Amino acid sequence: MKYERGRVYTWEFPVRFTHWINFLCVLALSVTGYYVGRPFIHAYSSTQYIMGWMRFIHFVAAYAFLMSIIIRLYWSLVGNKHACICEWLPFTGEKLKRVADDIKCYLFLSKSSCHVGHTALGGLTYLLLFLVFLFEVFSGFALYSVNHSGVIWALLGGWLKSIMELSTIRLYHHLFMYVILVFAMVHVYIAWFSDSRDKTGLMGSIFTGYKFIAEKDMKQ
Ligand code: HEM
Ligand code: HEM
Repeated sequence: MKYERGRVYTWEFPVRFTHWINFLCVLALSVTGYYVGRPFIHAYSSTQYIMGWMRFIHFVAAYAFLMSIIIRLYWSLVGNKHACICEWLPFTGEKLKRVADDIKCYLFLSKSSCHVGHTALGGLTYLLLFLVFLFEVFSGFALYSVNHSGVIWALLGGWLKSIMELSTIRLYHHLFMYVILVFAMVHVYIAWFSDSRDKTGLMGSIFTGYKFIAEKDMKQ
């Protein structure tokens, strides 16, 4: 049965912009962070400043990452309904049922139904991911506040040192990098899989903002 598909503007520019800034920041923060934890290039002369440059890039990417999170949270308040973080909150019976339906669908136990915005399971995953992002910011600025004293660093993460040991903060700051990298791999697979199954142009939508939705699915 062939359905007419309409072009729906789903992801507004700030959602796409922060998505790709997050992608670039996670890449830079992971490579430089991994180097800080396990230096894989060794300097052959005292003029080489490898660790210095890795830490510098880490901190610049850290500020860009922090700004991107603030812009995305702000846009959740002023953007269209698909930008609202309330789409990520699965705290209603109907939403929890949709999460269960999505899991059944990804396990090939049931047929899929297309969504204009995020799937309920997708939304829940992004909520957990943003909590991990927030932990990386707070733990990162807790580490950063060791050499930078001042109210701003204390607010951005220094307070975490009064709850956790510094070595534990560093350990979890490092470990959550792997959680984010595993998310990214599964995320790209599921986005690609959903696109090839539902033919909504999902992969392209995170670049253009437009999805192609069948008439029957428009109200969802
Ligand atoms: C997705 C986000 C981030 C990832 C994946 C990440 C990853 C890492 C990793 C793997 C390390 C090495 C830890 C170790 O010694 O074993 C590290 C160190 C560090 N990160 Fe991050 N980081 C992120 C965000 C941030 C943010 C937002 C800040 C805030 C300033 C930050 C500040 C630091 C600092 C200060 C260190 C210690 C540097 C040192 O010991 O010289 N990180 N990061
Ligand atoms: C570190 C890598 C990545 C992270 C952390 C990430 C994170 C996210 C987040 C948080 C969203 C929700 C967008 C929002 O409402 O703000 C999203 C959506 C999306 N991302 Fe990524 N992403 C990454 C890489 C990629 C890549 C490489 C692609 C492939 C082109 C991709 C494709 C998509 C698509 C198609 C959506 C919309 C999915 C939906 O309907 O929920 N992502 N991503």
